[in-house]
Amino acid sequence: MSSLPLETIPSVQLDFMNDDHREATLLTNKIYAMVQDAKDNSEFDRAAITETMHAIFVHDQEHFAREEAEMERTGFPAYGCHKGEHERVLAELQEVYQHWQNGMEPETLEKYLTETMTPWFINHINTMDTVTAMFVSRHD
Ligand SMILES: [Fe+2]
Ligand SMILES: [Fe+2]
Repeated sequence: MSSLPLETIPSVQLDFMNDDHREATLLTNKIYAMVQDAKDNSEFDRAAITETMHAIFVHDQEHFAREEAEMERTGFPAYGCHKGEHERVLAELQEVYQHWQNGMEPETLEKYLTETMTPWFINHINTMDTVTAMFVSRHD
């Protein structure tokens, strides 16, 4: 997989969610490009990648909180299930972040991005986020 073209991100019925997903995609593509460079350069800047990973973590935390606030406000029935998935992913990201700071190889980070994080992101938007956005927009 190469980086993720923005037009491949599924769109949902709430603009704030689409805007956040777009931002997450730009950050993911940024880190993907940095990891590509790092693979060919043993002197790569680990701290710059760490910084971008941190930005992704913070972005996800804020984005998930925005979705959760809307679910709570509208009484979305599968709130617990959707929130639980957000929590699982934040814990996973945190773990990868720590391994990265402890010397994870760029190839391993690339594998995580392409085989775990990106497929999860697309699938999550296509399922839980799509249903949530539909529910919230009908509620209002
Ligand atoms: Fe989302
Ligand atoms: Fe979500």
